[in-house]
Amino acid sequence: MNENSWACYSRNRKGQHGVGLRLLSLWKDEWKKGDVVLDIGCGTGELTKMIAENDDVNQVIGIDISAKAIDFARQHNSVDGKIKYLVGDAMLLQDSFSYFEKAFTKVYSNVALQWMENKEKVFRNVCWCLKDGGSCVINVLRGENETFYNVYHRSTKLPKWIKYFEGFEPKYYSVFGSLGDFDDLVSRCGFKQYPRIIDAYTTGQSLNTKEEHKDFMRPVLTHLEFIPVDLKEDFLEDCFQLFRRISPNTAHTEDDALFWRYDILDVKLVK
Ligand SMILES: C[S@@+](CC[C@H](N)C(=O)[O-])C[C@H]1O[C@@H](n2cnc3c(N)ncnc32)[C@H](O)[C@@H]1O
Repeated sequence: MNENSWACYSRNRKGQHGVGLRLLSLWKDEWKKGDVVLDIGCGTGELTKMIAENDDVNQVIGIDISAKAIDFARQHNSVDGKIKYLVGDAMLLQDSFSYFEKAFTKVYSNVALQWMENKEKVFRNVCWCLKDGGSCVINVLRGENETFYNVYHRSTKLPKWIKYFEGFEPKYYSVFGSLGDFDDLVSRCGFKQYPRIIDAYTTGQSLNTKEEHKDFMRPVLTHLEFIPVDLKEDFLEDCFQLFRRISPNTAHTEDDALFWRYDILDVKLVK
């Protein structure tokens, strides 16, 4: 993520927020007095705060790999005494936070896993930090039809810009393969076999103006940092035009109200 754009992210995350609420609803009726929750890839902390405002919840720890996101979350989404925001890598939880072992009754992660290459490692870490009987709800963006996956990868190959991306390694790892493949992956990570939910659905968000689309892209197109400062807006304009070309609802309109398609996989597992 681009380090200085977290305020933009926070303003334009209504799509992420919607799928985050749907994910949270998988715990409907399962909150218990004294719950201790870990939010992995908490970003700017809006959902972390919402979890902490649940009266049953004793404490929430939000971790994110970005120090700037954590700064933003601390500043804008704190709840006195109930949330701790920490900088950390979900793939390295056992090395960095030994005191997380069996420390949580619930682990939550909304639209973060697609930024993590080794998903099996993340699920093993999640299982390790849950108490026996604890559960996790985690989602991930899936497949090659989602719009962001396409804009992210194709924009690095635009002829006008390709020279800036020498040595750039894309770090956006949508999930491919069948639901059965994903089920195989999580079944190796130490959770109980049942009950287990693995649910796929498609949704998205509409943004109305070109500026909103650019603000949405600014923090999440990580390769923007490879573009010289004075050319960043030009690059974003080309990303917007690329988005317009590949977006499903643009064929008959010059309108900038375009739709970002998200293909989501929700997972609920119990230890
Ligand atoms: C799309 S944002 C989602 C943020 C938040 N969960 C929300 O719903 O708005 C993905 C987040 O994952 C974080 N992230 C990426 N890789 C990570 C990793 N290896 N460990 C922890 N967080 C990571 C990013 O910094 C970013 O804040």
